[in-house]
Amino acid sequence: MKNFSENVKYVGADDKNIDLFESQYLVPKGVSYNSYVITDEKIAIMDTVDRRKTDEWLKNLKCALGGENPDYLVISHMEPDHSASIAAFLKVYPDTVVVGNAKTFQIAEQFFGDIFKNKLVVKDGDKLSLGTHELTFVFAPMIHWPEVMVSYESSEKILFSADAFGKFGALDADEDWDCEARRYYINIVGKYGAQVQTLLKKAAALDIRIICPLHGPILTENLGHYIEKYDIWSSYRPETEGTFIACASIHGHTYEAARKLEKILKDRGEKAEFIDLTRQDMSKAVENAFRYDKTVLAASSYDGGVFPPMEDFLNHLKAKNFQNRKVSIIENGSWAPSAGRVMRTALETMKNIEIGATLTIKSALKDESELACFADGVRA
Ligand SMILES: Cc1cc2nc3c(=O)[nH]c(=O)nc-3n(C[C@H](O)[C@H](O)[C@H](O)COP(=O)(O)O)c2cc1C
Ligand SMILES: [Fe+2]
Ligand SMILES: [Fe+2]
Repeated sequence: MKNFSENVKYVGADDKNIDLFESQYLVPKGVSYNSYVITDEKIAIMDTVDRRKTDEWLKNLKCALGGENPDYLVISHMEPDHSASIAAFLKVYPDTVVVGNAKTFQIAEQFFGDIFKNKLVVKDGDKLSLGTHELTFVFAPMIHWPEVMVSYESSEKILFSADAFGKFGALDADEDWDCEARRYYINIVGKYGAQVQTLLKKAAALDIRIICPLHGPILTENLGHYIEKYDIWSSYRPETEGTFIACASIHGHTYEAARKLEKILKDRGEKAEFIDLTRQDMSKAVENAFRYDKTVLAASSYDGGVFPPMEDFLNHLKAKNFQNRKVSIIENGSWAPSAGRVMRTALETMKNIEIGATLTIKSALKDESELACFADGVRA
């Protein structure tokens, strides 16, 4: 971790062995649970870490404190990937004042019981002076839990942004920020676009030099880039011109047709990305549907409905408030194709979805020209 401040130290931990983050997200390059120490006349710790890393975090903390005792523990988010080590922390540093809002303590007491002797209950906009450093608490309710608040430190112009601007991947993961931050945002915060827009408006009034999120790298340069991405994602605008093809095929015939469609689009010089919902990462598929301006759903019929991996995908899209896109449909059935109807009905429950053409395949695609014609409609 490169030193980004004299007085603010990173004390978080990388988790490279977790199989699934939040029991559903593949994290091939791990995930980090970030936590920070601000040293001034008073010492404040910004959040704890997941219980998988409590011991490592307490060691980092001890080292950063250099024998001092912390004055405050600021809790920006009660989700256990950040709050799970609070009780262990208070055993070691029992006199620390825990800082949170009324909802923070309500949830904290549900998790830990009545262990909070020294509480500082703050309101939106309250300030806490540490000496030269001063924190202002800015509530960010429902991004993506009700108690979430971010903290702005005015002397160094640091925004402690909670889960916002977070990313999958351990801190040393050598990968593009946009992709893994997008997959993180869309899947974890995607439903709460309106709340993120409100926070972005509040943040626009602050002079921010550094963003310290609870996952992923500390952002010190080119902040406009990250803020612009958040603005796009949270306003449900497409980010990339192109077609995302999501496919759920039982015996491979729908798969073959969808792959041919991908080739037709690419041969035309257009951007297209294919995901096999039966084998590939669901969260990547959800990310792509939000990313591209057009989507094609291709699926086999199944017991009078649609093959379950597609149903699952549609449920995920609905849960994340998927909206403002054009979606076209390829269905396959051998006797009474039903997949298209089920996909259409699901899409009709979502906001501002333009449903494009439906191509019905009976068992196997016979005439490729049908697919070329369908491709015209996908991008029209
Ligand atoms: C368990 C099961 C249930 C199916 N249910 C239907 C159905 O309700 N209606 C239909 O037309 N075809 C049904 N089919 C047939 C498949 O939809 C069809 O053979 C398939 O779409 C061929 O494309 P694929 O190779 O991409 O799976 C079913 C197939 C299986 C294995
Ligand atoms: Fe969270
Ligand atoms: Fe988190």
